[in-house]
Amino acid sequence: MKKDQHNNETNIEEEDTLTNRQGHPITNNQNMRTVGNRGPATLENYDFIEKISHFDRERIPERVVHARGAGAHGYFEAYGAAGDEDISKYTRAKLFQEKGKQTPVFVRFSTVIHGGHSPETLRDPRGFAVKFYTEDGNWDLVGNNLKIFFIRDAVKFPDMIHAFKPDPVTNIQDAERFFDFCASSPESFHMVTFVYSPWGIPANYRMMQGSGVNTYKWVNNEGKAVLVKYHWEPKQGIRNLTQMEAEEVQAKNFNHATQDLYDAIEKGDFPEWELLVQTMSDDEHPELDFDPLDDTKLWPEDLFPWKAVGKMVLNKNPDDYFTEVEQVAFGTGVLVDGLDFSDDKMLQGRTFSYSDTQRHRVGANYLQLPINAPKKRVATNQSGGQMSYRLDRGPFQNPHINYEPSILDGLQEAKQLGKEHTPMITGNLVRQSIERDNNTKQAGDTYRNFEQWEKTELISNLVNDLANCDKRIQDKMIALAEEADKDYGHHLREGLKNASKGGTSQKPLGNIAGNNASQDAIDKSH
Ligand code: HEM
Repeated sequence: MKKDQHNNETNIEEEDTLTNRQGHPITNNQNMRTVGNRGPATLENYDFIEKISHFDRERIPERVVHARGAGAHGYFEAYGAAGDEDISKYTRAKLFQEKGKQTPVFVRFSTVIHGGHSPETLRDPRGFAVKFYTEDGNWDLVGNNLKIFFIRDAVKFPDMIHAFKPDPVTNIQDAERFFDFCASSPESFHMVTFVYSPWGIPANYRMMQGSGVNTYKWVNNEGKAVLVKYHWEPKQGIRNLTQMEAEEVQAKNFNHATQDLYDAIEKGDFPEWELLVQTMSDDEHPELDFDPLDDTKLWPEDLFPWKAVGKMVLNKNPDDYFTEVEQVAFGTGVLVDGLDFSDDKMLQGRTFSYSDTQRHRVGANYLQLPINAPKKRVATNQSGGQMSYRLDRGPFQNPHINYEPSILDGLQEAKQLGKEHTPMITGNLVRQSIERDNNTKQAGDTYRNFEQWEKTELISNLVNDLANCDKRIQDKMIALAEEADKDYGHHLREGLKNASKGGTSQKPLGNIAGNNASQDAIDKSH
C-alpha cells in the first residue's frame, strides 16, 4: 500500500487516487458516514449512496439466448481471391478484395441455452459471432459452430427456445420438453443428430468450426448476386468430447472454454480460423432435393466447393469483460456494401430480432458504445434517447440542421458504390412451409458419415435422454431415425428397448445427470 487510505493527507493528484464518479476524491472507503461510530447513517451520505446504488444496477438483462460467452479481439486478413477465382466476380465488398488487407474484428463465442455462469461443457450448439470493423462500416457474421439449425421458420424460434430452456415451473431443463418439440418439428432431426453426437460438445472454443448457417447474398459491381454460405475452419484442428469426457471436465472446471481461450491468447498462442464460402447461383435450384434457403440443410461440398477467402487471428483479450463481451451487440442485419440478405425466412426473422433485443438489453444508444461503434466516421440525424453521450452528426456539421434534405446545409446522401441489386419478387402472401422439406435425408447422410465412435455416442446419448420420455415421443423419434437410416433407427429402437427406466420424474438433457447405462458401450478408440 502506497499510503494510508484513512489519511486525509492523500494526494488527490496521484493517478491511483480513488474518486467517485463525479471526480471527488474518496478519503475513506472503509467507513460510511454515521452519527457516531455506531450509527445510524444519514441520508446525505452521497458517496455511500452513489456507490451502492450503482452496484445495485451492475447487471443488465442477460441475452435471452447465448448468455454465457467469451470474447477476443483480432483481425481478418483477406486472400484477395475466392479459392482460385477472382473474388470481384462475386462481391464488391472492400474487405475481401486486396490480398493481405487487414480488418479489425471482435469475436464472441457462446453456449446457447443456459445463463451467464452455466457450465461450458453442456450439450448445446456454440455461438460464433464476428464483428468486422470495415472501412465501409461494420459487418456482423452471427454464426454457430454447426452448419445447420433446428428450424427453418423464425416464427417457431420462441417456442423452440421455451422447450429447450428450463421448465417454467421446476426451473429444471427437461429432455422430454426438448424432444416433445423436436419430435413435433421433424425439420429439427438433422440438427438433433449433430447435437446428440460428440459435435454437440466441442472441446473448447478454439477447436471448433463456425458457420453463418443462413444463406446470404454476395453482390458484385454490376449488381449481380450469388447465394453464399460462410464457414470458419479452425487451424488448431477440430476436437469434440464424449459425454463422459465432458463430465470429467465439468467436475473440475465449468469455465474451461473461456479459460482455454483466455490463456492461449495471454501466452501468445493466437488461435486462427480460415474463412471459406460456398456459392450458388441466385435462383431456386429445382434440380436439388433441398431448397437453398433451408437452413436445416448442408450444401454438398462436391457440388458447391469451399473457397477460401481469408483468415482470422485472435490476438488480444478484452480489457474488461462487461464493457466488451457483455455489451457487444451482433446482428444479422449488419452488412456492408457488396453483401446482402437472401429470402431465407430465418434470416429475415433474425434480422428484426437482434437489434430489437439489443435496444432492450443494452439501450437505445447501444451503437454508441466503443465495442459496437464502427471505427469509421458515423454521421446520422438520429439523436437523443437514454444515455446518449455524443452527437452522431460529428463535430464539424452545422448543429442546426438535424434533418435531410436541406437546401441550407447538413448531411448529404452517399453515392451508390456499385450498381444496386434489385431482385424481382412476386407471389401471393401466404403462410406456407417450403416445398422441398426433405426432413430426414441429410440426417441419414450425416449419420453414415460419422465415425463408429461418433455413432455409438449419438445412440447412447439419445437413448439416455429419451429413455424417460413419453412413449409417443420415443416412437416419433425412432420413426424419424428409421426414415433417415435403417441402421440409425434400429440402434435407437434397440437401445430404448434395453434402457432401464430412470427413477426421477425430471429428464435431464444431455445426459449430464442421467442414466449412464449405455456409456459402457462407447468405443473409446478415438
Ligand atoms: C443471439 C434471436 C437463430 C446465432 C441471439 C439473441 C437473440 C437471437 C434475440 C440475443 C442477442 C443479444 O442479446 O445481443 C434469434 C432468432 C433466431 C435465431 C429469433 C431464429 C429466428 C440463430 C441462428 C444462429 C444464431 C440460426 C446461428 C447461425 C446466435 C448467436 C448469438 C445469438 C451466435 C450470440 C451473439 C453474441 O455473442 O452476442 N439470437 N436467433 N441465432 N444468436 Fe440467434
